[in-house]
Formats: sequence, structure tokens, C-alpha cells
Amino acid sequence: MSTRPVPLLDDMENIRPAIHEDIQAVFELNLASFAEAWSHQALMDALEHDYDLDVWHTTHGKLAAYYLGQDVLDEVHIMQLAVAPTFRRQGLGIRLTRYILDKKHREGMRHVWLEVRASNVAAQHLYTGLDFRISGIRKNYYTPRSEGFPREDARVMRYDL
Ligand SMILES: CC(C)(COP(=O)(O)OP(=O)(O)OC[C@H]1O[C@@H](n2cnc3c(N)ncnc32)[C@H](O)[C@@H]1OP(=O)(O)O)[C@@H](O)C(=O)NCCC(=O)NCCS
Repeated sequence: MSTRPVPLLDDMENIRPAIHEDIQAVFELNLASFAEAWSHQALMDALEHDYDLDVWHTTHGKLAAYYLGQDVLDEVHIMQLAVAPTFRRQGLGIRLTRYILDKKHREGMRHVWLEVRASNVAAQHLYTGLDFRISGIRKNYYTPRSEGFPREDARVMRYDL
């Protein structure tokens, strides 16, 4: 029998656009999830300008996941998609990504792009499992993920809607 936790979907609110009051929790989850985390101010600016910022809370009001991206013409750029560490491996990442792909398809977008660290196996499995494909490498794109590590390549991934 699987030891994986039961998905929490009954305990989840609907995914919705972020509001100002969400930014502190998004900021904290971005710090916990990305070596190249955004500042609080940058997230606030993103909310106020031409970015998409969608949040997914539990029914208890805890931020479980969010999506940050930008549309340019008919292309979507996924900038950040994160699931809170205690909620990982329960299918939230794949559901949130599917939600974004579906929404962007309905909005008439044609292509989705993202960059992911070469060492980020979890994200690459998530996206390849959804039929994203690797379309290029950006050499030494990322700063070291921690002290003592070299700069890291980015894998550029693409999905056609
Ligand atoms: C990548 C991330 C969003 C995955 O979220 P998640 O909710 O744990 O993912 P899911 O439970 O929906 O898993 C979907 C698939 O992704 C892959 N995956 C997820 N975590 C994995 C891991 N630690 N190792 C290997 N594959 C993994 C698996 O293929 C998994 O399918 P499976 O459970 O049937 O094996 C999450 O680990 C995260 O927030 N990481 C930090 C931020 C980040 O790297 N974001 C992506 C770049 S924008």
C-alpha cells in the first residue's frame, strides 16, 4: 500500500488571483522555494503591474501554492510556481500547472515557456510529465544555489497550448 499522503483537495479553496494581503505569505513561500527569490517589493510591484499572481489556500487560510507569470503577446512565461514544503508530493503542483495551462488556453495563449535549474529534478519531472519539452540550455544562467556551488545552467522548457 502507498505511504503517500492522501491528497488534500477537500481542504482546499479555489485558486484565485492574489490581493495585497496575500503578498507576505507569497513572499515567505518564495523565500522557502527559490534560491533566486524575489523581494517583497518586487512581488508587490508584480501584483500591481502586468503579471499574473494566483494563490491557492487551504480552507484554514494557509497558502499552499502560488503561480507567478507574465503573458507577452501569445506567450506565457512561468516565472515561479511553488508548493509549500509541507504540501509537496500530493499532486498540488501538477493540478496548479494544469489549471494555469487550461486558463491560458482559454485566454488564447499559444505557447508557454519557463526556465528551470538543471539540478531541479522535481520541477523537470513535473513539467515533462505534463508534456513540456526541453527546448534549450542557458549556460551558467543561475547564481549558485548555495555557497560553494558553481553557477548553474537553466533548462528552457516549452509547451504548446
Ligand atoms: C516543483 C514543485 C512545484 C512540485 O510540486 P508538488 O506539489 O510536490 O508536485 P506534485 O505532487 O504535483 O508532483 C507532480 C510530479 O512532479 C514530479 N515530482 C514532484 N516532486 C518531485 C521530487 N521531489 N522528485 C522527483 N519528482 C518529483 C513527479 O513526477 C510527480 O509525479 P508523481 O507524484 O506521480 O511521481 C515543488 O517541489 C516546489 O514548489 N519546488 C520549489 C519551487 C520550484 O522549483 N518550482 C518550479 C520551478 S518554477
